Amino acid sequence: MADNPLGLALLAVVGLGVFGLLGWASFCFVRWYQADAETRVSLRQARRMRWGWKRLAPMLGLAVKDATPTVVQQYGPQEQPAKPRVLVPRLRTRADAFGVTADALPQVGLSAWQDANEGLCDAWGMRRIRISQPKPGVIVARGFRREPLEAVIRSPLLGPDGSPVCRPGQFVSTDDVLLGWDEDGTPIVLNLAYSAHALVAGLTRSGKSITVNTLLAYASLMRDVRLIVIDPNLGAVAPWWRTAYKVSDAVHPDEPTEILRWVREEMQRREQLFWSGRTDRITEFSPELPLLLVVIDEVANYTRHPDRKARERFEAELLAIASQGAKFGIRLWLLTQKPSADVLTTAVRTNLSARICHRVDTVEDFLHLFPDGRELDITAADRTMPQGVSIASVGDMRTPVRLRSVYLPTEACWQINDLMCAEGLKVRELPDRVDLGKAA
Ligand SMILES: Nc1ncnc2c1ncn2[C@@H]1O[C@H](COP(=O)(O)OP(=O)(O)OP(=O)(O)O)[C@@H](O)[C@H]1O
Ligand SMILES: [Mg+2]
Repeated sequence: MADNPLGLALLAVVGLGVFGLLGWASFCFVRWYQADAETRVSLRQARRMRWGWKRLAPMLGLAVKDATPTVVQQYGPQEQPAKPRVLVPRLRTRADAFGVTADALPQVGLSAWQDANEGLCDAWGMRRIRISQPKPGVIVARGFRREPLEAVIRSPLLGPDGSPVCRPGQFVSTDDVLLGWDEDGTPIVLNLAYSAHALVAGLTRSGKSITVNTLLAYASLMRDVRLIVIDPNLGAVAPWWRTAYKVSDAVHPDEPTEILRWVREEMQRREQLFWSGRTDRITEFSPELPLLLVVIDEVANYTRHPDRKARERFEAELLAIASQGAKFGIRLWLLTQKPSADVLTTAVRTNLSARICHRVDTVEDFLHLFPDGRELDITAADRTMPQGVSIASVGDMRTPVRLRSVYLPTEACWQINDLMCAEGLKVRELPDRVDLGKAA
């Protein structure tokens, strides 16, 4: 064999083929293994779509007949009349949790694809298909088996059985935080390091805390972020009580004002760095110089507190942080059921550039978050808006989108916090009354 170059070449070709086949099989296996249950259904769906494509495309008028004779037909024996060949567009598929996206190198134009939309939906088993042409010569057919806005989507921080699959210190502030998906299944992410302050509004039980759970969980797992949570209802703060840098569940504004004052003093300390670093903005964070995430749930409890003096002190600190804090590495997230002017002054509100509006009662409430909301074709003053869906504008988004937040239940936040405590990140005990409550 060794003397036979032909044999050697054959062996090499067979070897390469086997190697390629093995590589492809392991790629498929890894993709399958890593996928969640819904994506696995989509992977099967994608395979059926590819296998049935040659038959389906001509039936839906998406193939063309090419009557030009091939070289063999032209010069070969002329016993039979030349049969026109059917040219079927090449189809490539990508599966995700909502359905399958098919890229095609088309033989026919966009309008023929749009005419075939209903037929494709039936044949592929989709609820709807969005067809677009991102560039000449390519058609993208995005098929939805499930509507992203209706689906309950598990947080990627949790495994299939709902237990955490994350490690403390796993992330840094420049990592994208997956908040959820828009109605086209596009992921909506937030980047703490590059973003500024935010306002989250919505009626009770509309999904504010679940949305903010994701933020608090990621921030807790970031090694260059310190978390400060103020929450009179003990809803958002409880799971992070043992590990957050500073916490308060006070109903009176004085204790939260004290915390905000500390944040402002920290801003003044950081001002020194601008001289030595020859900069006017902190953009790089580290465990020594962390990003400070300040989250205040139900901010109206403080800004509308009956103790006028205390309320004014709180608002003064809040305004100083909202207007000056971002460049010192402070990120302020305010949550409120009602976003009206008596809850947050215009001066504070204009500094909260990211907006997430869950379901609200009135159009006026929605306009407080999105002043040009009347021109949008979506609104959050909509009784049919499900829990966990909001109108959001984060990062460099040009127009607001409907957002379905990732589902990270509070129980899972407690489990993530247990992991952190087990790694020695606990800085304080739970209040006595919580222990009593647990024991009871
Ligand atoms: N993204 C989501 N996916 C699935 N279910 C959700 C989602 N968000 C919220 N829910 C459901 O809605 C319920 C209420 O949500 P949440 O506690 O976040 O409301 P809230 O706006 O914080 O209310 P409150 O103002 O009373 O604190 C949750 O317990 C959950 O069952
Ligand atoms: Mg809440």
